[in-house]
Amino acid sequence: MASDNTSIFRDDLLRGQVGLITGGGSGIGLGISELLASLGMHVVIASRKPEHFDTARDRILAAGGSVSSVALDVRDVERVRAVVDDVSNTHGRLDLLVNNAAGNFYAPSATLSPNAWKAVVEIDLYGTFHCSQAVYPVMKAQGGGRIVSASMTLHYRGWPQMAHATAAKAGVDALTRTLAVEWAPERIRVNAIAPGPIPTEGVRKAFTPPADSGIPDRFAAADARMDAYAQERIPLGRWGTPADIAQMVAYLASPAGDWITGSIFVVDGGEWLARQ
Ligand code: HXC
Repeated sequence: MASDNTSIFRDDLLRGQVGLITGGGSGIGLGISELLASLGMHVVIASRKPEHFDTARDRILAAGGSVSSVALDVRDVERVRAVVDDVSNTHGRLDLLVNNAAGNFYAPSATLSPNAWKAVVEIDLYGTFHCSQAVYPVMKAQGGGRIVSASMTLHYRGWPQMAHATAAKAGVDALTRTLAVEWAPERIRVNAIAPGPIPTEGVRKAFTPPADSGIPDRFAAADARMDAYAQERIPLGRWGTPADIAQMVAYLASPAGDWITGSIFVVDGGEWLARQ
């Protein structure tokens, strides 16, 4: 069973608005960028990997969307501030920040190097804070805004060999709730989405465990018998798609989400509840 990628939202829902999507050039981030652009938002794709820009830009322009791109490593706080200043000066506003950039890989906690720990925690957690803090004055000055951050479900029960990412995403959940309360008076709504298994190229690469780790390679198993695997392990019977996550972002970005803040939405076909 395939997902339905047809948008339920009206075409001009976000027209006149500006969104900054970190990691927006590939995988889930690209799906988010494409849907938001199709709803009329000007999308600024921020990525560490400029090679992702061209394809993303071509796809959005071909669909009639408005898009620009900027090189950004969310670990670099000065660069984050400069990019946010540039976006708000160029467009006069910044309505939505999507903290989608993430880095993960399997590694045993006992031997995780300080730099490996730092790399993931700095991208996933520090990056989310740096970007959120940078957009705050812009959103405050314009009377409000929305922040949506990428979380995960692996820290709900513990996930061996992913101490760095699970710790960082638990931090993202805490940050989401705290900033939501702290910034509600400025009408800045802060929420997060916890995606289930979505076999994008980046996730496949990051989540292929070392051959000698003893951890089952979920995606390799799935490649062998994709549909059967999803039907066994995911209650709703299929893998997720970037569009599944993008629709939730669009909902939260829209006026429909006007009374929603500090929430973490699991979008995973029921996968984590049924996890063995
Ligand atoms: C052990 C590793 C490692 C690995 C990197 N390191 N990969 N250690 N096992 N597989 C260590 C390096 O040896 C180094 O430590 C430190 O991490 C930094 O590595 P660099 O390559 O120098 O860092 P950098 O170029 O900044 O790359 C960041 C990265 C990389 C996080 C390490 O994996 C990356 O760029 N990932 C982005 C793409 C990605 O991961 N996307 C998937 C997101 S999916 P030393 O000590 O040697 O210096 C996602 C979904 C989750 O988040 C939901 C799932 C259901």
